[in-house]
Amino acid sequence: MIENIKQVHEEVKVRISEVTNLEQLEEFRLEFLVKKGKIQEFFGQLKELPNEQKREVGKELNILSKFTENEYNQLKQNLEEKAYTVSDLDLTLPGIKYNLGSEHPVRQTINQMIEIFKKMGFSVAEGPEAEDEYHNFDALNFPPNHPARDMQDTFFLENKFDKVVLRTHTSPVQIRLMENVKPPIRAIMPGRVYRNETLDSTHLAEFHQIEGLYIDKNVTMAELKATMMHFARVMYGDDIEFRFRASFFPFTEPSAELDIRTKHSNKWMEIVGCGMVHPNVLRAGGIDPEEYTGYAFGFGVERITMAKTQLDDIRKLYENDIRVLSQF
Ligand code: DAH
Repeated sequence: MIENIKQVHEEVKVRISEVTNLEQLEEFRLEFLVKKGKIQEFFGQLKELPNEQKREVGKELNILSKFTENEYNQLKQNLEEKAYTVSDLDLTLPGIKYNLGSEHPVRQTINQMIEIFKKMGFSVAEGPEAEDEYHNFDALNFPPNHPARDMQDTFFLENKFDKVVLRTHTSPVQIRLMENVKPPIRAIMPGRVYRNETLDSTHLAEFHQIEGLYIDKNVTMAELKATMMHFARVMYGDDIEFRFRASFFPFTEPSAELDIRTKHSNKWMEIVGCGMVHPNVLRAGGIDPEEYTGYAFGFGVERITMAKTQLDDIRKLYENDIRVLSQF
């Protein structure tokens, strides 16, 4: 039997050296390496041998088996690599082109606004999106039964200890800032806000605002107006028209809204709500209204982005259609 094994070993050497492609290699495998192949056949015979021969024959058989498998695997790898290199790799084909990502238009607006206000001496602050009712409403001088507190406008979060809401505006960050920083305070506060809105072309349930707060001695409404006008000119160009309208917010007195109109459009567009910080709000923030005054403002970032991009539907900003977003 040893002789037979050695003979097959020689046969394997010759046969493997003749293999030049994967089909021939498969024939080789079927002849030598499968269950009914020549090598397994020997293993079957090995069982029949008298014990004193098993050791020696078994050793020879293992050598053959290992050798054949190694040769097979080695050649298989070589042939597969070669098959790929020779026939499938065409170096003249154009490469695969990947699209580069770009900054989302809303993020671009936020960054642009931060730059404009930084140059006017504003720093940037942030606050939590899950906010307690105190900071979102009470401290901002909302009366106890103000409609904005209603479930219809506000998302309430379940919480055992006190009532927590998804903040409906960035104004609560004003309070958190006053609680933590002594005046003078001059900061903007960008962030995400939430309202229980029916979605349409001008309303989302989740959007962004940029809040502003300036508190110091003798801050006046004139400074507020000048700051808003400077911002709008940098953002939309020097030749815009302004319209300040009296308005109402619980946390400012007096309150105003600013509309602008560009040369090319005949429509007035509201860009910001603002006003002089209400004395109750200063007190809630631990600041003496006899000593300090201040102004505050709040921008809707999506609205400003829509004006810039001339998108007609706010929802298009969040459909993540690359054909829309890549234009900006
Ligand atoms: N918080 C207001 C809103 O969500 C926006 C606003 C108006 C903020 C006037 C202000 C402000 O700071 O002074 O509609």
